[in-house]
Amino acid sequence: MKTELTLHDRTLTLFRFPKRSNETLQAWDAGDEYLINHVEELALPEKQNILLLNDNFGALSCWFSHQHSVTMLSDSFIAQKATLQNLQRNQCNKVDFATSLDDLPQNIDLVLMQIPRNNRFLTWQLSQLRKVLPSNVPVIAVNKAKEIHSSTLKLFEKHLGETSTSLAWKKHRLVFSFANSAQTSEVEPFTTWPVDEHPIQLKNLPNVYSGETLDQGARFILKHLPQRDDAFKAIDLGCGNGVLSVKLAQLNPLIALTSVDESHMAVASAKQNIIDNVGDDIDFHCVANNCLDGFPANETDMVVCNPPFHQQQAVTDHIAWQMFCDAKHVLSTGGQLLVIGNRHLGYDVKLARLFGKSQVKVVDANKKFVILQATK
Ligand SMILES: C[S@@+](CC[C@H](N)C(=O)[O-])C[C@H]1O[C@@H](n2cnc3c(N)ncnc32)[C@H](O)[C@@H]1O
Repeated sequence: MKTELTLHDRTLTLFRFPKRSNETLQAWDAGDEYLINHVEELALPEKQNILLLNDNFGALSCWFSHQHSVTMLSDSFIAQKATLQNLQRNQCNKVDFATSLDDLPQNIDLVLMQIPRNNRFLTWQLSQLRKVLPSNVPVIAVNKAKEIHSSTLKLFEKHLGETSTSLAWKKHRLVFSFANSAQTSEVEPFTTWPVDEHPIQLKNLPNVYSGETLDQGARFILKHLPQRDDAFKAIDLGCGNGVLSVKLAQLNPLIALTSVDESHMAVASAKQNIIDNVGDDIDFHCVANNCLDGFPANETDMVVCNPPFHQQQAVTDHIAWQMFCDAKHVLSTGGQLLVIGNRHLGYDVKLARLFGKSQVKVVDANKKFVILQATK
């Protein structure tokens, strides 16, 4: 796996976050290189205010902070941690960080964007740009050519303005756009829908996982969440819109609940959904974090988890593994981890390796999913 990005006689050393000894995935892609090469050819004057949207692991932040004032805006806690560490590693200049919940900065001279996977989030970002950007400020976006459909370009045209594309280079394409559409379109931040068969209404900010329908795994585990009479500490790990947190809190008024996700929009949605569906009298916290980094050991009675199997564009099970290891670390003896996963992912083997085979049982299964309980 390459860790040195060399372009225009400059080399950056870049790692993903968290840094893993057996990492196989690079911390930048050809899209980052295409953007860098294109902007270098523009020979911009120094100290431009550059807004970077969705920089994956900080390659763009490291590159452009050398000569410019950079604001890195992302929905991802992990992307920001990666960027911070890569900036330090390469002794780069300071970069301003903003989350997807923040207003866009003023006085931007150039916007560079890694086009997000999720069209609702793309639409949101374009509409935000349209509101603040003067029409002469270029927006240059990048993605794999096969991910840039005519519908993607229509979103740019509708929500931002005049749009054209480059030739493909290393299977990537640039999208050039200006904020000059005839009208600004009002995009609602929340998508709201009810959860059938449960007294739950969910609000989803644009980049929340499964923000337009309930995740099928979540639907299956909802009816297996425990109801207890005692006070106990629980964590919803990878909470998304907080649907499992809401149900846990509805069933267990004495719960002390922490809902964790690496997406800032997920954390904000979970918080809103707990308040709207349960009230703010219960003991709860919603935090953006990488799994359970920094959480105290042996203090939690229960962890519920519907793990992700993607990081950015890549399919991977290392996050599920980290979530299981972290869950074991924070659980007190006798504490339980409740996991839902696709049958083919083999979480039973992973949990047996970690907790011991006799400590893992199948709670329920259907054609697609299995719910497992591991006791520490
Ligand atoms: C399959 S979704 C489950 C969402 C929700 N709990 C549900 O059941 O619908 C997995 C969630 O894990 C989050 N996630 C991914 N990587 C993470 C990490 N390293 N730390 C914390 N959360 C993470 C994703 O943002 C996503 O919201």
